[in-house]
Amino acid sequence: MVLFVTGTSTDVGKTVVTAALAALGLERGSVAVVKPGQTGVAADEPGDLAEVVRLAGPVSTHELVRYPSALSPAAAARLDGRPVLDPATLYELLLGLPDDLVLVEGAGGLLVRFDEDGLTLADMARALRARVLVVVGPHLGTLNHTALTLEALAHRGVGLEGLVLGSWPSHPGLAERSNLRDLEMLAARPLLGALPLGAPAAPDFRAVARASLAPQLGGSWDAKAFRARWDP
Ligand SMILES: Nc1ncnc2c1ncn2[C@@H]1O[C@H](COP(=O)(O)OP(=O)(O)O)[C@@H](O)[C@H]1O
Ligand SMILES: [Mg+2]
Repeated sequence: MVLFVTGTSTDVGKTVVTAALAALGLERGSVAVVKPGQTGVAADEPGDLAEVVRLAGPVSTHELVRYPSALSPAAAARLDGRPVLDPATLYELLLGLPDDLVLVEGAGGLLVRFDEDGLTLADMARALRARVLVVVGPHLGTLNHTALTLEALAHRGVGLEGLVLGSWPSHPGLAERSNLRDLEMLAARPLLGALPLGAPAAPDFRAVARASLAPQLGGSWDAKAFRARWDP
């Protein structure tokens, strides 16, 4: 199974959610994590895949292109004078991986460009008929970003796996609590998880992953109980 992980923006928690999915996937079989385009990282620096391994454990990792500039992959390729991602190479890799679960983390949000022709993560998911998990924030403003992302997926005929909150505060305010119901309304389905604030520093990340992701994703998180606790 190939699952694409995108988010409403950069820094929303895609890598940490990918690591949580990987940690639970490892309880059932082998896991590969693919980062088609890594930006903002020098050749000898740890990228997102290193963070996934730190948090989740022994997954196989595959990074196709890397750029030092902290820009979209297309802009970074232009500025850094490096080749863009070759989608055929990516598809060949993804279709050939032997792992039970294959996770693909995008760069930034759904419509970030990987080349000058406008290749996006949505194109990649559509080409492989794979579903997309959207990592969202809980804060004021997330409803618009989430609605735009879901509309873009639907417009392209790409299937939605569900929404996961990348970071849920221990003392959520009215906007965060109220957003739960509206996020579920936008997605037309229950949330698939909420990682607590501080999850990447937890001593037992796998236990946090299990408690924060729904059974559909291998965890024991209960959307109904979560909503009942926080819905204002
Ligand atoms: N649940 C969380 N609690 C605390 N910090 C988090 C949480 N999720 C992500 N972060 C931090 O926020 C930053 C961005 O998260 P990351 O997963 O790298 O986002 P993205 O992959 O979407 O850019 C990182 O420094 C990460 O450690
Ligand atoms: Mg990331």
